[in-house]
Amino acid sequence: MTDLGPVVWPPAPISTERLVLREPEARDRAAVIELFASPEVGTYLGGPQSRAEVERAMPGAPGRRPGRFIVDLDGAMIGQITLTKGTGHLRQAAGKAELGYLFLPQAWGHGYAAEACTAALNWFAGVLPGEPVVLAAQTANTRSMRLAAKLGFIEVERFEAYGAEQWFGMWTSATSDD
Ligand SMILES: CC(C)(COP(=O)(O)OP(=O)(O)OC[C@H]1O[C@@H](n2cnc3c(N)ncnc32)[C@H](O)[C@@H]1OP(=O)(O)O)[C@@H](O)C(=O)NCCC(=O)NCCS
Repeated sequence: MTDLGPVVWPPAPISTERLVLREPEARDRAAVIELFASPEVGTYLGGPQSRAEVERAMPGAPGRRPGRFIVDLDGAMIGQITLTKGTGHLRQAAGKAELGYLFLPQAWGHGYAAEACTAALNWFAGVLPGEPVVLAAQTANTRSMRLAAKLGFIEVERFEAYGAEQWFGMWTSATSDD
């Protein structure tokens, strides 16, 4: 059993037109540190963590866990996608699979996040048919809001948390366009 229930993990790497979704490798460490320490990436996620802190928390290779995909462009990591249950940061997400996406700023604006998330959601719909996926984002995070809409997430509610307005949406394969 995993926190995605009976899902067999890892799947074979998932290829899209331009990208590959795969498990983390030791060679991704520098890019993962860059991702978590980036002020731009952290803007709507409570702010960046210090590079030293991130490095301390990840002494070796980035951790492998069910639902964590590295997004690879031409052999280099450009971001990560998570589809995990029970992170427990919001009561609305409790017990549901939640989508998370973080991309390096230099990879924004090319449609890579949309392409990778679509593939991850298609994978999810195949292994857990009919199960919803939820997503929370600050409404001020316009890039994330645009991406959520593009992926087919439907607004469930808005609320205040962590000192900001949050958008909470839901996706099911049955209602997506794919
Ligand atoms: C949220 C995030 C993943 C969105 O990334 P993104 O690159 O804007 O998202 P998409 O993959 O949907 O790309 C859309 C852009 O690519 C452009 N694009 C260029 N070539 C494209 C192509 N071939 N296909 C599709 N879109 C393309 C689109 O026009 C759009 O540009 P615009 O932003 O100027 O309108 C990214 O901003 C990020 O990692 N942010 C920091 C972490 C974060 O806040 N995560 C969300 C937590 S809730």
